[in-house]
Amino acid sequence: KRVVCVAGARPNYMKIKPVMDALEARGAEVFLVHTGQHYDPAMNDVFFRDLGLRPPDRFLGVGSGSHAVQTGRVMAEFEPLVADLAPDLVVVVGDVNSTLACALVTAKAGPLLAHVEAGLRSRDWSMPEEVNRVATDRISDYLLAPSEDAAENLRAEGYREDQIHVVGNVMIDTLFANRERALAGDALARHGVAPGEYGLVTLHRPANVDDPEVLAGLLKALGEVAAHCPLVLPVHPRAAEKLNALGVPGGIRLVPPAGYLDFIALQAGARIVLTDSGGVQEETTALGVPCVTLRDNTERPITVDEGTNVLAGRDPQRILATAVRLLSDPPPPRRPALWDGHAGDRIARVLLEGGTAGDRPRPT
Ligand code: UD1
Ligand code: UDP
Repeated sequence: KRVVCVAGARPNYMKIKPVMDALEARGAEVFLVHTGQHYDPAMNDVFFRDLGLRPPDRFLGVGSGSHAVQTGRVMAEFEPLVADLAPDLVVVVGDVNSTLACALVTAKAGPLLAHVEAGLRSRDWSMPEEVNRVATDRISDYLLAPSEDAAENLRAEGYREDQIHVVGNVMIDTLFANRERALAGDALARHGVAPGEYGLVTLHRPANVDDPEVLAGLLKALGEVAAHCPLVLPVHPRAAEKLNALGVPGGIRLVPPAGYLDFIALQAGARIVLTDSGGVQEETTALGVPCVTLRDNTERPITVDEGTNVLAGRDPQRILATAVRLLSDPPPPRRPALWDGHAGDRIARVLLEGGTAGDRPRPT
């Protein structure tokens, strides 16, 4: 089978890599298409190096823009490419604009469409990712869910049982494949921290970083946490300007976005992680590191129910109280079922042995 795999933004690379490897190991002809949604070397090139991801076969170079502009550009560039490559199947991962854009093109162009990370729901429609998740699932042929709760969401929305495949979490495949290599590096020394003596922070959700007043409130809370445990904050480009303009309280050190191996090492060595990232909620659960999520909801509730994650919202008092509690009484490490390093294999089996193009009806 001919398969086009799509990636375009930081959280895509670690999800697509195990899928590509498993498809190729089973004899598929795989093309990697990079949309160019993220393009800074620190958001992009470093992941190809760290993950051993081969250079993209096609690069769409769309760059930044409003939602409509970015989504539209990906669609316009991806459509002729699908006609040219004529794949049997297109695989999209996650919930970024590139995911939905390529899904929409595929659904109308003819190839089958597989969504890796199907069924996640925050039920918060103010998140652009929720729109991307729900819309991508609706037009996908294969719904590849990371966990049983995601499959339940899909069943509740009326999807057919034969479309839903609980395959496990590809992000954890990549984490396990690289953890030892990450730990063997000198990331902590280069960041000036010692194991178990610092906290790690990431912030990039529009609801947290776009409004300076909200961001100032979060920084105040983080400053109070830093009085208990010094914090390192690799800065996402979306937040850079506003963070620099506001200035950060003492005890918080801003550093450039970390590469994958460095960031895994920084998570593994942290006493606590405070984040609004989706993937980081999962990685901290798999690593058994306490995580405070700076949001009111999560599309990954399994990290709360069966992991180390606690939702603390944006209220400074609640954030501080949650962090102090987790620092003194860390939750026990637990790992959800099928987060075992073999999700990529299960996906390849479903996609390559689950019927040929044309014999599968579209979702009803
Ligand atoms: C995107 C995803 C989000 C994901 C995040 C991961 C959407 C709607 N959002 O958010 O789900 O969690 O990636 O990191 O797809 N920028 C740079 N350099 C880059 C990339 C972006 O400077 O390499 C800056 C630009 O000013 C850009 C802004 O960041 O306008 C936002 O980038 P964009 O890709 O639109 O969304 P993210 O906030 O990165
Ligand atoms: N990550 C990284 N460097 C950083 C921050 C995050 O390598 O400075 C990795 C992290 O380990 C995870 C992925 O990026 O694998 C998560 O991406 P991000 O937080 O940008 O997006 P989200 O998961 O929220 O969509």
